[in-house]
Amino acid sequence: AKPELLEGFLNFRSDGIFIGFMRGNNDVKVLLNPEMLLPYHVAVLGATGSGKSYAVGVMVEELLERGMPVVAVDPHGEYKWFSRENDNPEDVERAKRIGLTLKGFPTTVYSLGEEEGRKLSIGISDLNPYALAEVCDLSGAQSDLLYLAFKKVDGEGYGLEELVSAVKAAAEEWGFQRNTLMATLRKIQALNEFVFFGGNVDVGGLVKPGRLSVLDLSGNVDERVRRTIVGVVLEKIFTARRRGEIPPLTIVVEESHRFAPQGAGGYCGSVLRRIAREGRKFGVTLCLTSQRVAGLDKDILTQCGTKIILRIEGAYDIEYLKPILDYASADDAERIPLLPTGTAMVTGMATRMPILVDIRPRRTKHGGGHQAFWKR
Ligand SMILES: Nc1ncnc2c1ncn2[C@@H]1O[C@H](COP(=O)(O)OP(=O)(O)O)[C@@H](O)[C@H]1O
Ligand SMILES: [Mg+2]
Repeated sequence: AKPELLEGFLNFRSDGIFIGFMRGNNDVKVLLNPEMLLPYHVAVLGATGSGKSYAVGVMVEELLERGMPVVAVDPHGEYKWFSRENDNPEDVERAKRIGLTLKGFPTTVYSLGEEEGRKLSIGISDLNPYALAEVCDLSGAQSDLLYLAFKKVDGEGYGLEELVSAVKAAAEEWGFQRNTLMATLRKIQALNEFVFFGGNVDVGGLVKPGRLSVLDLSGNVDERVRRTIVGVVLEKIFTARRRGEIPPLTIVVEESHRFAPQGAGGYCGSVLRRIAREGRKFGVTLCLTSQRVAGLDKDILTQCGTKIILRIEGAYDIEYLKPILDYASADDAERIPLLPTGTAMVTGMATRMPILVDIRPRRTKHGGGHQAFWKR
């Protein structure tokens, strides 16, 4: 087919989001219309090593280039490399061939430890009772006590001491058993040991035009704590956006099944579900990756208007995907296990029909774990 014809048919726009080239028609640039892509969220699915993070990196570059803010939830510490230009020899060569200039983008890394970047800090008053009950692993009775105590603390800026007094007062008032009180206090006071509890979340600092903020969650942290941190930060961002305090933004969540597991409930999952449902009203885009398609909350997955599918080998995962691959046929699905690394099937709102895309080289340095390993 003629390139112009295809472009018209697929809704591309000359100023669109440039993710790569049509496979088999390599003179056709894939330029996704941001108005069809961003309001409806994006799911990037595929096996480990299939090229998900690389493809997300390409989209993030396009958003930053347009001056949009991006926040990335990064469990593996891969996104800190975004400040550097791509120095991978093969990528550099490919970029030269297509006339793509390499560069890094303004990046701020927030991490849990002290070692690098800024410290990801959460104040005790950033935690609502649901988050607090979850991060402290409270039982039913202990959670009840905590909810009652929360009615006694002043909404903004209270500290641990104030919360402890409120728990004691609520236990007295409602006649809770002494061992419930003691266990609740012990678990709440253990929060003091977590290194990341400090000043309140700085949403204004996290969301800046044309800047990538990385929540680097690598390191030795309990998974429940990690999930709670993400829930708290994303809820703060979403609230600030609803109040118009920050600009529209994109939130990347790597390994999203870990933060919103299917059928598991939980605080962080509920925050992500809400953003998936209401984000488009407020200009908040989710870009979610997962290598465990069936493990990601199904409501969230179906809210994603565009799916970028990389190689998936498991027959079970492909069967699971078929009903949600809007526009794609069973024949299309058969091709998913055969996709080479870095080639995606894009389907959904952003392209009227499923297309195969060779993802373009990155301008920035890719921090994916496999590269250094297999280059040796
Ligand atoms: N579009 C691409 N162009 C060039 N290399 C790629 C591309 N996509 C993936 N790769 C290579 O494959 C490796 C794994 O990709 P990555 O995106 O990290 O996988 P995952 O799906 O696990 O996130 C990368 O380190 C990179 O070397
Ligand atoms: Mg990855």
